[in-house]
Amino acid sequence: MAIWWFMSCLVALAAGDNTGVMVEQPNNVETSGDCLNETDLWSVFAIFRHGDRTPDQEELDLFPDADIHDKDVFFPHGKKALTNKGKQRGFLVGRSLRERYDNFISSLYLPAEVTVRTTDYARTKMTALTAMAALFPPPPAQRWNPALDWQPVPYDTLPFDEDDLLYWYNCPSYLQARDEVYTRPEVRAETAQYQDLFEYLTRQTGTNISTTEDVFFLDNLFQTLNNVGIKTPQWAQEVMPRIKQVTKLEYGYEFYTDELTRLATGVLMADIINSMHLAIAGDTEQPKLTLYSAHENNVAALLAAARVFTPHQPHYGSTFAIELRRNKNSGEFVVAAIYSPDAGGSGQALPIQGCGGRLLCDYETFVTLTQNLVWTHEEYRAHCNIS
Ligand SMILES: *[C@@H]1O[C@H](CO)[C@@H](O)[C@H](O)[C@H]1NC(C)=O
Ligand SMILES: *[C@@H]1O[C@H](CO)[C@@H](O)[C@H](O)[C@H]1NC(C)=O
Repeated sequence: MAIWWFMSCLVALAAGDNTGVMVEQPNNVETSGDCLNETDLWSVFAIFRHGDRTPDQEELDLFPDADIHDKDVFFPHGKKALTNKGKQRGFLVGRSLRERYDNFISSLYLPAEVTVRTTDYARTKMTALTAMAALFPPPPAQRWNPALDWQPVPYDTLPFDEDDLLYWYNCPSYLQARDEVYTRPEVRAETAQYQDLFEYLTRQTGTNISTTEDVFFLDNLFQTLNNVGIKTPQWAQEVMPRIKQVTKLEYGYEFYTDELTRLATGVLMADIINSMHLAIAGDTEQPKLTLYSAHENNVAALLAAARVFTPHQPHYGSTFAIELRRNKNSGEFVVAAIYSPDAGGSGQALPIQGCGGRLLCDYETFVTLTQNLVWTHEEYRAHCNIS
């Protein structure tokens, strides 16, 4: 069971944590204000990465000489699809959400309490379904088939080319801004140290590996092949630590500036803040739990927008929750950033940068800290040429 059940007061992460999660040492923090048991949950926004998957064609194209293009390798899942392990991972996500929010949401599935949004990928939809299976096993009132410990829970999805919430690779401005980061002197200096790696990988794969993003895609290819039992080739194993370092760098570049973070996830953060604002104002129409089933980049982007990101690749099933809470005594609203780097793992509160090392950041301060990162759906659509 997750540690957080036994902790009344939030504890900062220890330094050197292998998740790569940022550690900001609180200076003279008045920790009494960081006691969860002195607050009530008010609304929760949680985003998670899908479970383990098979490779997609784009990744396979990076590796044209390999004997991995036989489609049977991915049977019965198909390409870019959730594996059984991935489904188990989704289930763990739902189970840990149930553990954490059991006293906050009903054990019945009440449509007004919960909404689920996914990207337009089979794997994020299937992860949502497995997570919901764990979050909402039907109590007697919703049991409809005695042989099934399952009930349907719906999700919403927009097609890729209309998705202005979770899929920013449609946005030319984002890609331009990210490519511009690559040309910065300090970034060039950092990536120059890996020039020999780029050349080596180019030779070995027979494809053009010249950016940190290319290496990151290759890293994902190896991970996804491992998911179907295909070992990473020896030539890649030999340089794997450096491949991982470059993947981490890429994660730093993707959200290098406030502009990039805003382009990536400013609309989502704006929606979250707007919903918190309405919930505080007493609007009972706001869901208590809003869930997003998405990708590693989405988890990373929202961590960045909440000012708690340290560059790393979020794992399958990693879950990040922004919790709005209300102090029982003062009535003051606060925000907590709770990260579970591994599916089903215990969530850890991350100190929000700019909030004085506090783990419970007062709501108004949080809104101020994120004001450069938010924009409206209309602004995003206009800026990114989405109709
Ligand atoms: C919250 O937990 C802390 C530490 O366990 C304890 O000192 C404090 O009295 C608790 N507060 C309430 C309101 O229960
Ligand atoms: C490889 O790709 C980079 C940028 O994506 C490009 O600048 C370079 O010319 C390419 N090299 C070859 C040999 O195609």
